[in-house]
Amino acid sequence: MVKILFVCLGNICRSPTAEGVFRHQASKAGIKDGFTQDVFIDSAGTAGFHLAAPPDKRAQLTALKFGVDIGDLKARKLSLEDYSDFNYILAMDKDNLSVMRKKCPEEHQHKLYLFMSFAENSPGITEVPDPYYGEIEDFDKAYDFIDRASQGFLYHIQQKYNL
Ligand code: 4NP
Repeated sequence: MVKILFVCLGNICRSPTAEGVFRHQASKAGIKDGFTQDVFIDSAGTAGFHLAAPPDKRAQLTALKFGVDIGDLKARKLSLEDYSDFNYILAMDKDNLSVMRKKCPEEHQHKLYLFMSFAENSPGITEVPDPYYGEIEDFDKAYDFIDRASQGFLYHIQQKYNL
């Protein structure tokens, strides 16, 4: 099983969207998600501002426009155990990656990536910008970036793990 964790700051906008989008794409590709399945997909925030809160309404509505329901997800904070538990820990932006690099034990550093590094045909786009203080257009843009990175990441694990 491949364990995949999406990480942003608050775990209420970008990373729960990435969790939902990737789960949706993986399911369409016939990849099963769950504790004893092909993949285990989760998300967390480097900050604990919104513990146990559902995703921001604007993120929920944006995802729903594409048939992705993230309404049941609950925010949690990234923990030290996550670095050993997960195989891929995918940061939405460089600030969060930098926080993760400082906390992650040396033997797990290779699991940390910028999520956008898996996006194909997106030259120069390295981060999913934080939409929290923005407008609904910023949520649309974040969704589009997440969708692209998710497709590329799905292709990556399909090739690597023969899924
Ligand atoms: P996220 O967005 O990291 O994509 O979940 C944010 C959510 C909350 C805050 C900042 C960013 N906040 O400052 O409360």
